[in-house]
Amino acid sequence: MTRKSKDDSPMVDSSRRSFLNKLWIVLGGLALVEVVGLVLAFFQPRKTRSKEGESAGVVEAGAVEKFTLNSVTAFVRGKFYLARLEDGGFLALSRKCTHLGCTVPWSSKEMKFVCPCHASVYDIRGEVVTAPAPRPLDLHHVFIENNIVKVDTNKVIKRGAFRPEQAVYAKKETK
Ligand code: FES
Repeated sequence: MTRKSKDDSPMVDSSRRSFLNKLWIVLGGLALVEVVGLVLAFFQPRKTRSKEGESAGVVEAGAVEKFTLNSVTAFVRGKFYLARLEDGGFLALSRKCTHLGCTVPWSSKEMKFVCPCHASVYDIRGEVVTAPAPRPLDLHHVFIENNIVKVDTNKVIKRGAFRPEQAVYAKKETK
């Protein structure tokens, strides 16, 4: 009796070990699938967020005369600033700092954008006055129809520097 059980024991152990090995392989596979799923989900674009504000489509900012020369107006919808330059030109500036993406507030007192995160400073044209920002604030396309200033927030225009042709003018005004 005891002899039989001794003979059976290695077989039972072996099949138990084989079962446990298979179980570990299945569990390991499931864990791997879950990790891959999490990694893929992390890198997928967040659709809801872009609907809520990153891109608000075409935003009607208002009539040309509404914006005084040398002024900056913040728009919540579309998350941009509409800057009207001294010569009447319009620029739609992204409010995202080009360093690490913090929201940059406009100070009308100091007439500049000062990033609260690492103190980058931009002028009214979005040009970098003080680093670490590596490049000017991004732009959105501005166009004027029937004297109404409109901003297309669907696309972000990155630039290396301010150039006069980036500003948009109402028909009566010439550069
Ligand atoms: S995020 Fe604006 S200076 Fe760093």
